[in-house]
Amino acid sequence: MNLNFLLKNFLVNQHDFKSPVVVTGADGCIGSWVLSILTKSNIPCVGFDLSESKRRLTLILGEEAEKVQWEKSDITQYKKFLNLLKKYNPSAIIHLAGLQVPFCAADPALGARVNVEGTINVFESARTIGLKKIVYASSVASLGMPPGGKWKETLYGVYKQANEHTAFVYNADWKIPSVGIRPNIVYGLTRDQGISSKNTIAIQSAVLNEEYNIPYTGNYSWLYAGEAAAAFIYSVMKEHNTSHVFNLNGQCETVEKGISIIKSLKPEAKVSCSGESFPFPSDLSDEPLRKVIGDYPTYSIEDGITDTFNSFLKLNEFGLCPEIKMV
Ligand SMILES: NC(=O)c1ccc[n+]([C@@H]2O[C@H](COP(=O)([O-])OP(=O)(O)OC[C@H]3O[C@@H](n4cnc5c(N)ncnc54)[C@H](O)[C@@H]3O)[C@@H](O)[C@H]2O)c1
Repeated sequence: MNLNFLLKNFLVNQHDFKSPVVVTGADGCIGSWVLSILTKSNIPCVGFDLSESKRRLTLILGEEAEKVQWEKSDITQYKKFLNLLKKYNPSAIIHLAGLQVPFCAADPALGARVNVEGTINVFESARTIGLKKIVYASSVASLGMPPGGKWKETLYGVYKQANEHTAFVYNADWKIPSVGIRPNIVYGLTRDQGISSKNTIAIQSAVLNEEYNIPYTGNYSWLYAGEAAAAFIYSVMKEHNTSHVFNLNGQCETVEKGISIIKSLKPEAKVSCSGESFPFPSDLSDEPLRKVIGDYPTYSIEDGITDTFNSFLKLNEFGLCPEIKMV
């Protein structure tokens, strides 16, 4: 069983990656999409993750996930990480390993080690081996800093700002350019944890006939996981000459619209929403990013929800649907 239909709109037809693209956080939501797209596009790649399992990757690729090159690697262990990089002599790094808002709040020091020190380790290793194609995940949560502004302050946002400033200094002092991407609310198969995973949980709940209330209303960023992954891949298709940072929003639509699309697929679905709007902006422009990295594929909310619904349906048919997490 595989879910190849998920990937067909995101495959890369032309590329000049001569050695592997290293993906950190490879078994995360975005990482598993990035690796799936790279694998299906015949781009050499290797996944690095703290986790040995290819749990999320297997949801998308099925048995093909077994063939994907994989290294169990802790981003906080600089020397081990550097040695692994030297082993592969990568053409690019897509750095996604990180701890999300609830995990940083639960263990702030670990959050800083993984998110801040881990990103420094990526840049320092790139500097050591002379690698100049780097994209890393910041987040819209960085817009909550400095404190006292319009959007919510989080430790996670503090760490993501530190990442952006780190990238700036590595370019200013050592000419290591990079692209920082601030994804907004990613949804789709494999988005199973974090404060903004609730719209995906609603889609899965509808498939499983479970009741679910999304705790937000009003405008929301609907950034399909395939689209987010494509943006990360396009960011390392060429070398850049500065330390860019861009927002990545996807479509701005209401939570209510998302629910109506779910109900058009399954009228008896018991999904609803209530509460305030999400505490980050929902309508940031993707144009500045597209101008620099090129026109990566986009995906409408209708197509994204339909594909996600159908993927949960198929997994459920085969008894492979993951458990719903509430973190
Ligand atoms: N998903 C979103 O909506 C979203 C939005 C904004 C930013 N981001 C950022 O994008 C990146 C990827 O997000 P995601 O949704 O795929 O996250 P995720 O939580 O699904 O996955 C994170 C991955 O990082 C790995 N990891 C954690 N600690 C590690 C360590 N010490 N060494 C190596 N690997 C480690 C985990 O095992 C996991 O596979 C993260 O940096 C996240 O902060 C995500």
